[in-house]
Amino acid sequence: MRVEYRGPMHRGAIRYTRYCICDTIKVNGSIIEHIPVLAEILTEQIKLPPDGIMVDATIGHGGHSFLFGKTLGPEGVIVGLDVDKNAIRRAQFILKDLACKVILIHSNFSRISEQVHEQGIDKVDFILADLGLCSTQLADSRMGLSFLQDMPLDMRIDKRLKSTAADIVNKADEKSLADLIYKFGQDRASRRIARFIVRERESGPITTTAQLAKTVCKALGSARRGRKSKIHPATRTFQALRIAVNDELENLKKLLASVPELLNKNSCIAVISYHSLEDRLVKNDFKRNEKDSIYRVITKKPIVPTRQEIAENRRARSAKLRIAQKK
Ligand SMILES: C[S@@+](CC[C@H](N)C(=O)[O-])C[C@H]1O[C@@H](n2cnc3c(N)ncnc32)[C@H](O)[C@@H]1O
Repeated sequence: MRVEYRGPMHRGAIRYTRYCICDTIKVNGSIIEHIPVLAEILTEQIKLPPDGIMVDATIGHGGHSFLFGKTLGPEGVIVGLDVDKNAIRRAQFILKDLACKVILIHSNFSRISEQVHEQGIDKVDFILADLGLCSTQLADSRMGLSFLQDMPLDMRIDKRLKSTAADIVNKADEKSLADLIYKFGQDRASRRIARFIVRERESGPITTTAQLAKTVCKALGSARRGRKSKIHPATRTFQALRIAVNDELENLKKLLASVPELLNKNSCIAVISYHSLEDRLVKNDFKRNEKDSIYRVITKKPIVPTRQEIAENRRARSAKLRIAQKK
């Protein structure tokens, strides 16, 4: 579905730097800035011809696409996908003055092939997937993703999805909850957390992020202190639920499986991931395709942000960039 831009939403400032476009918008009354991650190294590694066609599978605020779009001429094309309708609107605003054609589609990247082919495009010169979330989504109460603020426990990035995190937390049996927290959150205390969640919901449904975070903290209180963990006790449980609600790993597998057929010879796929479950999928996919003589892996080791980038943009701290080239 093509989405029309209906005017800036909560628009603040846009800061342009040499390697970066920082989109600053107001969310729930606070100013939030989204800075594209590893943008400098990406634009140094990937050079598109003026008539190049790129797919930004996760358009977000359009920060990366803006930088690549600046190098494209009127014959160039950017196809941008996102499951968040608001992201599509923001990107439309950011990218509106580029010389190239910009096609923005409210779609999951698991459907990348059909979306690209529907535009009459057979092959493309670059595919970028910057996984995870924008800073603004984390702060947006409609998303219900943050354990640092109190929000309705939702976590659906695509509001067309049926099940919310609250549905899972209140309906799943204790074993399924524990398995989910272990599998997608890699939390060794998953059984204890699931037990506390089930106990908590006996006195009424868990409906907010703060209620869930408090329950996890109660479950982990002394155990977490013993482990000297640097992260918030609820981080892994929230990650697990977000992955489950949005079916993130299955969608990533479908995206990766579609890429070889879409790329022109010598063209690249670049993926920025933010946790090890995603990064492992990308690493193994690239390796498998290299073994089958379909890809040449450009990044034998993932590229990570410099200390300076992390100091300027905390969201970058867990980022890993992998690039492969179609043979
Ligand atoms: C980290 S942000 C991308 C930021 C973007 N690179 C920029 O510079 O502005 C990730 C985006 O991917 C979107 N997203 C997450 N999963 C998706 C999926 N399966 N299909 C399409 N978009 C997805 C999110 O809604 C979010 O807007």
